[in-house]
Amino acid sequence: MNIIGFESSCDETGVAIVNTEKGLLAHALHSQIAMHQAYGGVVPELASRDHIRRVLPLTREVLEKSGLTINDINAVAYTAGPGLAGALLVGASVAQAFAWTHHLPAIPIHHLEGHLLSPMLADEVPGFPFVALLVSGGHTQIMRVNGVGQYELLGETLDDAAGEAFDKSAKLMGLPYPGGPALSRLAEKGDPAAYALPRPMMHSPDLDFSFSGLKTAVLTTLRKIEQGGALSEQDRANLAASTQQAIVDVLGHKVIKAMKQTKLKRLVVAGGVGANSQLRSYLRREMAKQGGQVFFPPLALCTDNGAMIAHAAAERVKAGLVDLGHSAYAFTVKPRWDLAEA
Ligand code: KG4
Ligand code: ZN
Repeated sequence: MNIIGFESSCDETGVAIVNTEKGLLAHALHSQIAMHQAYGGVVPELASRDHIRRVLPLTREVLEKSGLTINDINAVAYTAGPGLAGALLVGASVAQAFAWTHHLPAIPIHHLEGHLLSPMLADEVPGFPFVALLVSGGHTQIMRVNGVGQYELLGETLDDAAGEAFDKSAKLMGLPYPGGPALSRLAEKGDPAAYALPRPMMHSPDLDFSFSGLKTAVLTTLRKIEQGGALSEQDRANLAASTQQAIVDVLGHKVIKAMKQTKLKRLVVAGGVGANSQLRSYLRREMAKQGGQVFFPPLALCTDNGAMIAHAAAERVKAGLVDLGHSAYAFTVKPRWDLAEA
């Protein structure tokens, strides 16, 4: 069975085709980063308009790459939330129209389920159950995953997401949007112990996070440095490295605590911040100490893409969670949507 998937929840338009037996056949992606960079962040209205421009050319591209025609497609999946309402509506309406005109089932997918199951697109596939660390621009959650559609929230951020902490700190340092990758590159030249930044809630008894205090600490540190003279390139690199270390320490510490609490040996890391090389090496090292294993999506599929949406739909179909015989073609999107209710 061939499933085409559409992702348009934020600033990436992604289209992909997954075969339920063979896996990923093709994917195509357009990132709007360059367009939003001039504004220092995502402009929702511009995002929606750009999704409209990109979605059909990407669909043609993905059909061509896979060697399939429209008539070979058996189901249509799309991100129904959470995300930007207008942006979500583009993918949802294109997918529903596609499904309706070709009499195919339409499958709404939770964006975070897409991220959560994306490590299954790598060569080494994690078996259930596992602990998942979901770290994106909008979410920071630790979940226990017992199977497809069986997600139990163990902890989450009480304010900013980890990606937001990267992005906001980076902005303060004058780095371009999205700040995560830029801050991480700058940090390579810096000393992570140069500035003592707080590790909020690192030792709290729960598995929750709080990152909003970090950007304030970054701002205060910046002001202090500037009082002593102009901010040098080395100061910026040191501050970037110290910020990254604080975020990685908190994420790493809490997730290892979750591994111990659940007594599970498999950890899955998903979402844009999962591309961070410091976080990757921290978790590889600490999981090895625990006698466990950590799984990541392929690097290109860490940030938003259509492959994870088509793949999540394929997994839901295989798990018997999708009613393939009935689609109403009436739809809504959910800008806010709890994964435990998906
Ligand atoms: O999953 P994603 O593409 O979109 C959401 O669903 O939010 O995640 C985007 C987030 C942004 O905050 C971005 O700065 C962050 O992931 N990110 C990174 C890296 N690559 C992307 N953060 C730290 N290091 C990276 N290498
Ligand atoms: Zn995402």
